[in-house]
Amino acid sequence: NNRTPFVAGNWKMNGDRSLVTTFSASLDSHAVSNVDIVLCPPAVYLPLFSSANFSLGGQDLSAQEPGAHTGDVSGEMLKDVGCSYVIVGHSERREDHGESNSDVAKKASKALACGLTPIICIGEPLAVREAGEVEAFLSEQLKALVEHLSVDDLSKSVIAYEPIWAIGTGKTASPEQAQDVHKFIREFFANEDKTLAEGLRILYGGSVKPDNAKTLFAQADVDGGLIGGASLKVEDFISICQAAN
Ligand code: G3H
Repeated sequence: NNRTPFVAGNWKMNGDRSLVTTFSASLDSHAVSNVDIVLCPPAVYLPLFSSANFSLGGQDLSAQEPGAHTGDVSGEMLKDVGCSYVIVGHSERREDHGESNSDVAKKASKALACGLTPIICIGEPLAVREAGEVEAFLSEQLKALVEHLSVDDLSKSVIAYEPIWAIGTGKTASPEQAQDVHKFIREFFANEDKTLAEGLRILYGGSVKPDNAKTLFAQADVDGGLIGGASLKVEDFISICQAAN
């Protein structure tokens, strides 16, 4: 396929100035070719980065117009401090802030309107997997996206499949489990538009580490990863980026 591998690091609510310095220096001296690399630190640290070797992304944005929304960060602001990407609909935002499928779709639409590429997260909790209802559950999340976003919008987006039971637990989906779901997601989009589906980058997230990245990324429909814990250790993050090449 023609899809450029993609690795995004999501620091979540972790890190400090000193980690920013470490990452900037190390990523600058370890260029990884042919992989799109994005780092998503907490918003307050974004302006401290500057590097040609990777892009920056926010972890969330407001769906509202700029104005009286205390504590929120707009897509315009993310763009202003150098972001090209923004994560939307991470399961932790859905859980902690009650973001619904349609809220997530609206945020993705807002991101695109601001010139940002949304990295749209979907994924099922353990109970849904155990009940054998993964595809039905993901279909609901995906339907909200196609209802709010045009084929053109979707073709400018990135999808991240993150099974909630694999996030931060050390339990990774097996390469086969990941591939099965990624194939399902691609087929879902193929029903909308074949060219869209062929070009769409679908990342896997959930306990990706240097020792399992290569096998996961080798799956036909896995185009890279969204990395949490391992994106806080610069050597691990670089080796995961290299595994995507
Ligand atoms: O955004 C990243 C994911 O939630 C994965 O986190 O690699 O710590 O499991 P993790």
